[in-house]
Amino acid sequence: MVDVSNSWSNILNDKVVLITGAGGGIGSAISRTCALQGARVVVSDVNKAAADAVAIEISGNKNGESDRVMSLELDTASEQAIEEGVKKVVEKWGTVHVLVNA
Ligand SMILES: NC(=O)c1ccc[n+]([C@@H]2O[C@H](COP(=O)([O-])OP(=O)(O)OC[C@H]3O[C@@H](n4cnc5c(N)ncnc54)[C@H](O)[C@@H]3O)[C@@H](O)[C@H]2O)c1
Repeated sequence: MVDVSNSWSNILNDKVVLITGAGGGIGSAISRTCALQGARVVVSDVNKAAADAVAIEISGNKNGESDRVMSLELDTASEQAIEEGVKKVVEKWGTVHVLVNA
């Protein structure tokens, strides 16, 4: 028999999750949930102020930065912006484990 105890509760522990459109309704809800599940969350949005607001809420810090959360201005319509954004995440946390395109 497969033991499923704890299989979901730890699944995002310390994983780096990059969420696009994270300043909006669905993206912000996903960001909060991933943070609650122990993920390191990249709150990204083309609207920097919207991303910052969600990162500030999750981190509890005025600048929205912590060892668990980072805010990122990222336009998913720009290949260059994606490359630069992912580079910043890799510089901070080494990799991206999960991408959520909200
Ligand atoms: N298929 C369905 O049944 C269904 C249901 C609900 C929502 N949706 C879609 O899901 C998406 C998200 O919904 P929501 O309610 O969270 O919308 P929302 O408007 O609250 O949030 C969308 C976010 O995406 C950001 N964004 C827009 N263009 C972007 C870009 N080029 N790069 C990065 N970020 C960008 C916006 O700044 C905004 O913060 C929408 O496209 C919506 O139409 C689909």
